[in-house]
Amino acid sequence: MKEKLFENKYGYFTENGKEYVIKTPQTPKPWINVISNGDYGIVISNTGSGYSFRTHASLNRITRWNQDLIKDDFGKYIYVRDNKKKIFWSIPWKPVCSDYENFEAIYGFGYSIFKTKYYNITFELTLFVPLKDPLEIWILKIINEDKKKKDLSLFTYLEWNLGSAPDWHREFHRTFIETYFNKEKNYIYSRKRLWEIPNEKGEHWNKDWDYTAFHWVNYPVSEAEGSKEEFIGMYRDLVSPKALIEGRLTNTFGKWEDDIASLKIDIKLDPCEEKILIFSLGAVKNNSEENIEKILEKYNTKEKVEKALGDVKKMWEDLLSGFYVETKDPAFDIMNNYWLKYQAISGRLWARTAYYQLGGAYGFRDQLQDSQIFLYLDPKKTFDQIKLHAKHQFSDGYVYHWWHPISKIGHRNEISDNRLWLPFLVIRYLKNTDDWSILKEIIPYIDSGEGTIYEHCYKAIDLSLKKFSPRGLPLIGNGDWNDGMNAVGTEGKGESIWLGHFLYGILLDFSYVAEKEKDFDRAEYYRERAKELKEAINKYGWDGEWYIRAFKDNGEPIGSKSCEEGKIFLNAQSWAILNDSAEENKKEKAYESMKKYLFREYGPLLLYPAYTKPNPQIGYLTRYAPGVRENGGLYTHAGCWAVLAVCKVKDKIAYEIYKSFMPIYRGMNPDLYQVEPYVTCGNVDGPDSKYFGRGGWSWYTGSATWYFIAGIEGILGIIPTWEGLKISPNIPENWDEVKVKRLFRGKIYEIYIRRKGKFEIFLDGKKINGDTINYQGPKNPVFVEVNI
Ligand code: GLC
Repeated sequence: MKEKLFENKYGYFTENGKEYVIKTPQTPKPWINVISNGDYGIVISNTGSGYSFRTHASLNRITRWNQDLIKDDFGKYIYVRDNKKKIFWSIPWKPVCSDYENFEAIYGFGYSIFKTKYYNITFELTLFVPLKDPLEIWILKIINEDKKKKDLSLFTYLEWNLGSAPDWHREFHRTFIETYFNKEKNYIYSRKRLWEIPNEKGEHWNKDWDYTAFHWVNYPVSEAEGSKEEFIGMYRDLVSPKALIEGRLTNTFGKWEDDIASLKIDIKLDPCEEKILIFSLGAVKNNSEENIEKILEKYNTKEKVEKALGDVKKMWEDLLSGFYVETKDPAFDIMNNYWLKYQAISGRLWARTAYYQLGGAYGFRDQLQDSQIFLYLDPKKTFDQIKLHAKHQFSDGYVYHWWHPISKIGHRNEISDNRLWLPFLVIRYLKNTDDWSILKEIIPYIDSGEGTIYEHCYKAIDLSLKKFSPRGLPLIGNGDWNDGMNAVGTEGKGESIWLGHFLYGILLDFSYVAEKEKDFDRAEYYRERAKELKEAINKYGWDGEWYIRAFKDNGEPIGSKSCEEGKIFLNAQSWAILNDSAEENKKEKAYESMKKYLFREYGPLLLYPAYTKPNPQIGYLTRYAPGVRENGGLYTHAGCWAVLAVCKVKDKIAYEIYKSFMPIYRGMNPDLYQVEPYVTCGNVDGPDSKYFGRGGWSWYTGSATWYFIAGIEGILGIIPTWEGLKISPNIPENWDEVKVKRLFRGKIYEIYIRRKGKFEIFLDGKKINGDTINYQGPKNPVFVEVNI
């Protein structure tokens, strides 16, 4: 019997938290897994619905998907037909939604398994994406547990998307798709003669889709189908398609269909007999069947696919084990040892897509922040991300707000914080690794010329220093971190206090970097500007009890007691504390105010009270329903910064605040929370919503990495600084011991924190002065004992 951890009505963790088992297909909202190898990916829910893509889920989706989180009925399915009884069902649950005798969806790192039992036949379907190739494998084990022989047919079903094909343009797009069936080798393949990506000459709608998609099985295919109309039948649906009622496919393929793929496999099973089938789906480069066959050759036996699955499991095990923690709270350990890292890497950095947002692009600020997760595991990968983003900067310091891999199209705009995340990340990288050589690396600009990483960073900062108002505050432009504040400064006058706090920290840290680079004038200049900025923030940005968030083009404040709605904003307080841009007497007050007005049952609210009517001078955040997303809910990403601020002021409530939006604990009340208990969600409805406490936008959220950082640098208080690793724990009273294994500057630090009533640190057995460790000797790992 497997141990069940944090079991709720719908599921539980097992394998020490490494797997999540969902007990029913009918969770309050689809609970998904996002599986990716950094190029090919699948998103799959517990109903079995979802989609597949290569490189970019929007521009290069292989299968069709409709974003309908209520029906959740678009996916790649397998039907089973009992040919004697003439009944059929599906594995997993959708589309037929049978009343199984047994159901389990098991999510692990890099794989999902569905176990179902119906009519005394057990099915175990394992889906995964091999480490290096652009395909997914489905291993299907069937066991006949009945006393009678079974005469079954399996029918797969999926709809081809092949590129980017918005559903409102379906009739247009389908005329460019062609499908074929290779009966001898058991695979269907498909191509598309149009792709909405500009060609080499920059012309639109004049390019082939660069790939060939395929769907294969390792069994003889008795019949196959390429036509949706033939499969479903006019005016029917996937619940009772014609093909299953009649038990046959028509082998219709070509250039004239509404294109799907279905393979029919006939199987006879004796009592107790077990069979294993292997299916695959993928997309190879070019118009070449040879490339398909090469890839099939690599994954065409049970041994080969089991080995490939083993490799995937091992890769995740190795990667995630780079950081390890053991505390008194297993929920904390499960999140930080496994799921947050997995979510950040598989979901945010590699797949860049999920259910509430069908993505694929890179956000300049987004994936940079996400890549901090690799500082704990494999910092070279953080540097790779820094280089990638630096390549999307212009020589005048501007950056793309986002850009699309494949089409390479990006968006340059006046959102004012994006470029500053580049130096922010470089600073974080340097503090963690002490590898200063990266500053010398030369990276091209997107328009012309090239520069060192150091130059890329100061160009970003210098541009921001130019964009100041006459009274010395940074201009907000078309928004800062908060995308929804997109109208505050469109006339070029609006100011941002949050951006001031953010920039202040960067100026001080980067002056340290400049000093190290012997760029003394710059170091001095940044310190000077930081000083002036702090003065301006505290002079104009202080509202009496808290910091104002921003000023509109017409000079009116946002986030002030004089406002009717949106009186106080979280980030304007948390970052004042985090970066010490608050004057001492104001810091405490700002903290007290954020605690008083914003800390609520399910996490710190982004602002309060929510806007109830659209305010065209602020932007679309005021247009969301009250309490939803940026409009006065918990915006989890920002909630993590609030936790870090609570920890910085050493308030005893730190763990309580952290826990207030911990997915595992919120998941213990799953009908209210609704979203997955194993990953963070982007937002939780605030008190002004009818559904206060409801989670949304799970998986694809910048909070994955930041919640990890809030746990490790905030709660455990193990903080990388210029001087070394600062230890300042904020652990709850009842934790008398914590063990941590953490990479820092090329060495593994094994840190033991024990409650002994007196603060002392022993590094490699020797007592040190102060609270910061920076081991210079030859040992690795390094042992650190911390008494608190
Ligand atoms: C979304 C965006 C992110 C932004 C945040 C707050 O998560 O992807 O870039 O900072 O919203 O508006």
